[in-house]
Amino acid sequence: MKCLKIGFLVLMAVLVCANDAYRILCLFPFNGKSHSRMFDVLCKGLARKGHKVDMISHFPTKVPIANYRDIIDLNGTRQDAVNSLSIQRGRTIHTAVMYYIATTYGGDLCHLLGHEKMQNFIKNPPKDPPYDLMITEYFGSPCYLGLGTLLNTPVAIVMSSLETSYIDSFMGNPFNFAFFPGASLENVVLNTFFDRVWNLVLNYKDALTFYHYTSDQTDMMRKYLGWDLPDVRQLERNVTLALVNSHYSFHGIRSFAPAVIEVGGLHVQDEEIPLPPKLKNWLDTADHGLVYFTLGSLMNIETLPRDTLLGLYASFRKISPIRVLMRIANATKLPPGLPDNVVVSSWIPQISVLKHKNTRVFITHGGLMGTQEAVYYGVPTIGIPVFSDQIRNVNIMVHKNIGILLRSEDLGERSMDIALHAILHDPKYRKSARKMSHMFRDRPMNGLDTAIYWTEYVIRNGPDSLKSPAVDMPWWKLNLIDVFVFLIAFFVLVLYFLLVTVKFVLKNLYTLKDKRDKRKEKSN
Ligand SMILES: *[C@@H]1O[C@H](CO)[C@@H](O)[C@H](O)[C@H]1NC(C)=O
Ligand SMILES: *[C@@H]1O[C@H](CO)[C@@H](O)[C@H](O)[C@H]1NC(C)=O
Ligand SMILES: *[C@@H]1O[C@H](CO)[C@@H](O)[C@H](O)[C@H]1NC(C)=O
Repeated sequence: MKCLKIGFLVLMAVLVCANDAYRILCLFPFNGKSHSRMFDVLCKGLARKGHKVDMISHFPTKVPIANYRDIIDLNGTRQDAVNSLSIQRGRTIHTAVMYYIATTYGGDLCHLLGHEKMQNFIKNPPKDPPYDLMITEYFGSPCYLGLGTLLNTPVAIVMSSLETSYIDSFMGNPFNFAFFPGASLENVVLNTFFDRVWNLVLNYKDALTFYHYTSDQTDMMRKYLGWDLPDVRQLERNVTLALVNSHYSFHGIRSFAPAVIEVGGLHVQDEEIPLPPKLKNWLDTADHGLVYFTLGSLMNIETLPRDTLLGLYASFRKISPIRVLMRIANATKLPPGLPDNVVVSSWIPQISVLKHKNTRVFITHGGLMGTQEAVYYGVPTIGIPVFSDQIRNVNIMVHKNIGILLRSEDLGERSMDIALHAILHDPKYRKSARKMSHMFRDRPMNGLDTAIYWTEYVIRNGPDSLKSPAVDMPWWKLNLIDVFVFLIAFFVLVLYFLLVTVKFVLKNLYTLKDKRDKRKEKSN
């Protein structure tokens, strides 16, 4: 009897556990390497938590993970984005970021829905069990939201940067435009009246640009997924949860709707990625310190003009015995004459370098991923931003005294000398970086656990459990325009009646006084 009871309890426990494990579709059609690092950690983290994760991406896992399956490998379906940008091209993109996000990195990706592998999946989606949630990147391709409708699955979105104003608007997130610079701005703070004007105008303009250039995605989506699907703008308002890669300790204070969750730095996992032995030895013996220099996975240092590169060589030679590690995708493209204290490599486990005790400076393009890693490990930076949010990120680091801005067009021996001298010898940078690191890490749960918690939350409690009523309100209702108009009209009316009444009373008083005076005159 007792055994039976225990057996029953075990069975119940198994059932409960099985019930709590969800089936999740991770869908990441954009082949941006840096973006994928966040999504990779998120989806693998969910698998580690016991959920059954199916991944569709351009970056299949190299080591097998329990509960995690790459059901579609999109590698090769798009032109490779890694190491593909020259700095010049980066500057071109910067002139019309929103346009490029909505088209080259947005609409163009919708055609992957028509790829044979995707069509096979779309026509025969797994049904046993069906998906509990689909997680997808919301960058420039709202057309993928239609897959949620098709699979009858709620959709959560992930953003690998600060979310844009158009995401805020369909998630019902408060705008905070009076004091928080929207994602389109390069400012860190809003000081003047015109800063606020610009903040509102630029962010609205970018939202409208985005809506304009993505409006054709409804048709693309219908072509590949079915003609009865609703408009993408309607699907956006049906999104269940948005995980965004910001944290108030870095990006600044503002208010949030419960469905928009800050998970900034989620991808920074403290696990050790082993350094190649030769590199490790070189770092371990860099007793005077190490400068780590990379422009990220998209842009290559070796595409800089030859004169600039020679200037950098000269500058790096001067700081010897401090060592310099550079990520160079193709070392044969570098001019000869690399200084003795410089080592280059095409592949560097960045986190392992940034957390190394000898690392003193990170020279970076200011991409959000690398920036968050530097912040996490308290490494001061020299930022050479080129496009998109890089400028804002570097401005924030300058504002917080944890970094120095070096304009890419000024890059050369002299500017690098000045920046290196300041960052290596002024202790304020190291001190501020340590403080920033503490604040960035000081949270009830780390970024990944926070993301997993809220992902499970919306599955447990239903797709509308965090939905803000603001989502379905027209802008004039949401901003209380009708109420203000009513109140102003009311006060004007009250004022008018008051005036009329006072006028009437005064007039009568005078007539009364007149009559009295006249009576007095008569009696006299
Ligand atoms: C993609 O495919 C190419 C060619 O087959 C291969 O060299 C590369 O390593 C693959 N990339 C990933 C992330 O698997
Ligand atoms: C909106 O989301 C709910 C919950 O996931 C779903 O039942 C509904 O079909 C979705 N509507 C559309 C138009 O996708
Ligand atoms: C590296 O650059 C050289 C010279 O420009 C070129 O010939 C070679 O193909 C490149 N190697 C790779 C792996 O891209």
